[in-house]
Amino acid sequence: MALVAGQLLGLASLAAALVSPDGTGRLPAMGWNSWNEYECNISEDVFTTVARQLVDLGLKDLGYEYVNIDDCWSDKELRRNATTNELIPDANKFPRGIVKTAEVVHSLGLKLGIYGDAGTDTCGGYAGSLGYEELDAATFSKWGIDYLKYDNCNVPSEWVDEYEYIPEEPESGRAPPGYDWGTSNTAKRYRTMGDALQKQNRTIQYSLCVWGHARVQEWGNSTGHSWRMWGDIFPAWKGKEKWSWGLMPIVNQASLTWEWTDFGAHNDWDMLEVGNGDLTLEENRSHFALWCALKSPLIIGTPLDTLGLRKPILDILSNRELIDFNQDPVYGASAMPYKWGNDRPAGTSDMEHPAAFWVGTSVKGIHVFLLNTQDVAVQMRAVFAEIPPLNATASEELLVHDMWTGEDIGTFKEYFELEVKTHDTAALRITTVDGKHPNPNWSPK
Ligand SMILES: *[C@@H]1O[C@H](CO)[C@@H](O)[C@H](O)[C@H]1NC(C)=O
Ligand SMILES: *[C@@H]1O[C@H](CO)[C@@H](O)[C@H](O)[C@H]1NC(C)=O
Ligand SMILES: *[C@@H]1O[C@H](CO)[C@@H](O)[C@H](O)[C@H]1NC(C)=O
Ligand SMILES: *[C@@H]1O[C@H](CO)[C@@H](O)[C@H](O)[C@H]1NC(C)=O
Ligand SMILES: *[C@@H]1O[C@H](CO)[C@@H](O)[C@H](O)[C@H]1NC(C)=O
Ligand SMILES: *[C@@H]1O[C@H](CO)[C@@H](O)[C@H](O)[C@H]1NC(C)=O
Repeated sequence: MALVAGQLLGLASLAAALVSPDGTGRLPAMGWNSWNEYECNISEDVFTTVARQLVDLGLKDLGYEYVNIDDCWSDKELRRNATTNELIPDANKFPRGIVKTAEVVHSLGLKLGIYGDAGTDTCGGYAGSLGYEELDAATFSKWGIDYLKYDNCNVPSEWVDEYEYIPEEPESGRAPPGYDWGTSNTAKRYRTMGDALQKQNRTIQYSLCVWGHARVQEWGNSTGHSWRMWGDIFPAWKGKEKWSWGLMPIVNQASLTWEWTDFGAHNDWDMLEVGNGDLTLEENRSHFALWCALKSPLIIGTPLDTLGLRKPILDILSNRELIDFNQDPVYGASAMPYKWGNDRPAGTSDMEHPAAFWVGTSVKGIHVFLLNTQDVAVQMRAVFAEIPPLNATASEELLVHDMWTGEDIGTFKEYFELEVKTHDTAALRITTVDGKHPNPNWSPK
């Protein structure tokens, strides 16, 4: 990653977003990662097959470009080369080395990601990079790596933060007023690897898998391209399973922290579980629509070799209009909640019924997302006067378009109402009747 101009100016670097000169990281990353379905059962074959499937299923053409290796790729016993200290790939899983996987992936016009950890060991107990940042960044660069997911397990006691902030634990985060979380040990651990990546003669997208700790949103902007904001995702609608969370608790946190996302700076709501576990069709749809609306990285986590046979899932992951919203070249902000619904005031935190009425903008118009958190189908109404970018035009006729089907629904005055199935999300685009943007100067922030 070469230096951007602002970073040559010393202190100014702390404020600058990390946008690589070639544009890497400006928009949310799109790709595939092995963890959600394969965990440690990975091999070169898994990744080269995924790369071919991304091409064959048309997903590459839609923008999915990163093929990301998650934990368990290195040799658990040998760990590092006794002479060079370099990480050693597991010879059973990658008999030709990571280099060969990178060659295959690159030959298909795709990029290869890898996984590391800002502690002594990864979450799976493989060698971590703490204290080896420069060497590991150079090794990744030498192998042809394009993306690093950097996890946060096994932090030794001398690196534990003076003040702890864990988003799931409201009692944490008792730092003195004005405390700069960018000076925390967590920020230092992540910045050391970020600096090491920037010294390499290769652009490596940097994904901080820091689970929202140490208020990463306040320093992630200058450290990496995206940062995890919460614990791991789990393919369930609500609730929690060990340290992993269903969709609604994550959307709830997003409703309270959406504004930290913009170009080159992305809240990461974790990899997609679309197609995994026992979500319903509607829950799969809500998951994808909301991750697109939030401008989260879109990292598929379901096996691709069977995806051609799972047409409804492939259709969801291939929805051109939702992807276009996520990847909009002009408007970088996440959609914002404009009304909580379920009779709650704005700003209410509710892990089962998070904010239900969202609005965002793109080059094509104003987009409204209506999330039904109820266990029954409900009528949901987008009242134009309630929607900040439309309130001035609330008495005009407006054209409502369904992003799911790609079809216009019709023109409406004052409001548009539809039935939303249980746990489904309506994704609407609103323009003037002649298809023009109703308020191009508006952005959620
Ligand atoms: C990231 O930093 C840049 C430069 O200071 C700033 O313009 C931008 O608003 C920041 N982005 C977010 C999401 O905070
Ligand atoms: C591991 O993956 C291989 C092939 O990818 C598969 O045949 C095998 O069943 C998997 N093992 C487990 C325990 O999931
Ligand atoms: C360690 O690195 C040396 C020097 O590059 C190399 O000759 C040797 O094969 C490596 N050993 C292992 C176990 O990879
Ligand atoms: C940096 O990478 C470019 C393109 O791969 C290569 O041509 C150049 O020789 C490299 N420079 C150094 C110093 O390694
Ligand atoms: C939604 O995804 C789940 C996996 O979470 C899958 O079992 C289910 O069949 C999907 N729904 C449909 C209709 O494809
Ligand atoms: C529209 O909503 C915005 C944001 O809530 C508010 O500042 C503005 O005054 C409203 N305009 C009208 C015409 O109601």
